[in-house]
Amino acid sequence: MKNMIFRELTIADHESAHNLWYSTSGVCNCDKCMSADTVENLQKYLTRNPGMSFTALDGERLVGTVLAGHDGRNGMIYRLTVAEDCRERGIGRRLVELSLDALKANGINNVKIFVLNGNEEGNAFWEKLGFMDFSAKASSRYIEM
Ligand SMILES: CC(C)(COP(=O)(O)OP(=O)(O)OC[C@H]1O[C@@H](n2cnc3c(N)ncnc32)[C@H](O)[C@@H]1OP(=O)(O)O)[C@@H](O)C(=O)NCCC(=O)NCCS
Repeated sequence: MKNMIFRELTIADHESAHNLWYSTSGVCNCDKCMSADTVENLQKYLTRNPGMSFTALDGERLVGTVLAGHDGRNGMIYRLTVAEDCRERGIGRRLVELSLDALKANGINNVKIFVLNGNEEGNAFWEKLGFMDFSAKASSRYIEM
């Protein structure tokens, strides 16, 4: 963690963040996510949810991300990712804490996450951070544009 810089994620981080997400197992890389992760959509997301998404930088290299936002009622955290060679150093925890603080400052105290089936590392991490499994079934539908 020494020399690691944590700062708000900006649209300029899109390419590095995208590269990290789509080269990391445990992060959904399906076609629907791919089509949602365009630079335009990230800009919309950051505009709707200012000050809630963060990145970790080791020098110039982006090694961690978290996207967070809310709908006025629930907070949601997405795209928590730490580069494989930088794990177990507290980066993931710090990124989540920054997003939780920002959600709290916006009056949000109920925060949800999605974990892919079979992502045991992810589950172990979230459990450590106090997230409780509420065994919901998640479904999604794609709307043709
Ligand atoms: C999950 C992930 C973000 C964790 O990042 P990280 O920087 O290694 O996590 P931290 O070092 O902050 O760990 C925080 C705590 O979780 C624990 N932890 C982290 N990874 C763990 C694992 N694989 N198994 C068990 N515990 C784990 C740490 O030991 C630490 O516990 P402590 O605070 O008691 O010491 C990282 O493994 C990752 O990017 N995984 C792939 C993508 C992914 O699954 N993201 C989550 C999608 S829902």
